[in-house]
Amino acid sequence: MARFRIVGGTKLRGCVQISGAKNEALKLIPLTILLNNEVKIINLPRISDVLSQLKILKSIGAEFNFKGHILSINCSNVNTAKVPDGVAERLRASIVLVGPLLARFGYADIPLPGGCLIGPRPIDTHTDSFEQLGAEYGVKNNRLKVRLEKPIGNKVKLKEQSVTATENILMYAAGVEHDILIENCAIEPEIIGLIQAINDCGGSIQKISKRSFRVKGSKKMSKAEIEVMPDRIEAGSFAIAFLATGGEGEISLVRENDLEIFFDLLEQINANFEIRNGNLKIHKSDNLKPFKIKTAPFPGFPTDLQSPISLLAARAKGRSFITEAMYENRLSHIIELKKMGLKAEIVDKQNVKIDGPCRLRSTEIESPDLRSGITLLIASLMAEGETIINNVEVIDRGYEKIEEKFKTLGAKIVRE
Ligand code: EPZ
Repeated sequence: MARFRIVGGTKLRGCVQISGAKNEALKLIPLTILLNNEVKIINLPRISDVLSQLKILKSIGAEFNFKGHILSINCSNVNTAKVPDGVAERLRASIVLVGPLLARFGYADIPLPGGCLIGPRPIDTHTDSFEQLGAEYGVKNNRLKVRLEKPIGNKVKLKEQSVTATENILMYAAGVEHDILIENCAIEPEIIGLIQAINDCGGSIQKISKRSFRVKGSKKMSKAEIEVMPDRIEAGSFAIAFLATGGEGEISLVRENDLEIFFDLLEQINANFEIRNGNLKIHKSDNLKPFKIKTAPFPGFPTDLQSPISLLAARAKGRSFITEAMYENRLSHIIELKKMGLKAEIVDKQNVKIDGPCRLRSTEIESPDLRSGITLLIASLMAEGETIINNVEVIDRGYEKIEEKFKTLGAKIVRE
């Protein structure tokens, strides 16, 4: 297991370019199962979850080559809906293979998905939505089998505004010649990006209301090139890194609408920043104010920025309150940060109070999951002295060349 050795106390300075969005890329790859030709996906981030998703596609017959940030992939030779064990169980996003496989073969047989240990990660919203169209499914030996030769009915109402469940049923509906109205959808920017990609491929997904879409499926979708949007969570992570270390800098490829509530919070806590034509400038901000946030489906505060934002609570003067309403176990970074001196009280599984300002001190810590990993990396940059972060592979799941990016901003960080 690799680890980072970090000497903290540096104020980050400079410019960083954001990579393609992990949580869009991991769905565009399975989408190609519905296309009848070779397609290029550009601005694809070279992160381990993308490499895992590609390994899964290869195991069912997809052919591709991935050079730099350009993937050329052709799924015309995909000849089975049975995904072998070995990779999919490590990845939450493998669950969205069901929709495209079901649309193409009437059948899907995949290992139950894995993913960060931040909660039970149920798939009942997924199976329930396919059942509403007449699907039969079963779970046995840690594998999920779904059968749906021909959809019955024309409406699905999601039990929960689940991101991957929305994407799963949208991709299914896009690939079968049938009209389906899907209600109570999640509407994260990555989902809107997937919808735009499907429509660019000749699909027909029409917005009916804020959270409902009418899909007229087609078997003739094809497309030459799809571009991955910039990763809003990476952009937010770097904005927090500049502010948390008392530095200043510029983050390029940031789409303002993707992070509206995040920018509202920065304004509220007195952070100095400006965003113009896709560039986010963070200026030195020395008297940050405490805040109160509760995570929620988009356009609410993104749960994926809940861990890193706690570092701004450490710099603010006063008591902040953070509620993680989406997951049951996504406060583990607080335990590690307390080892570094964070003054915090975990009230219960979903609530934490943080008193600032407090100086973090270096120590040896573990990064339990992707977003707590980036939080601990930034905390190590804030702390005086040398910090060791173990099992940093979890950070590589969602952040490309993370130590290089931080080094260009002046961080003293070495991967061992
Ligand atoms: C996706 O996971 C993302 N993963 C997650 O990002 C992200 O945290 C999550 O959406 C929420 O935005 C990918 O896209 C691969 P869910 P998903 O089904 O689809 C609860 C990262 O770090 N919930 O939306 O598995 C639900 O019960 C990863 O990049 C509500 O409470 O997430 C579950 O506990 C981690 N109310 C949790 O949210 C709702 O209305 C996530 O559910 C909807 C969901």
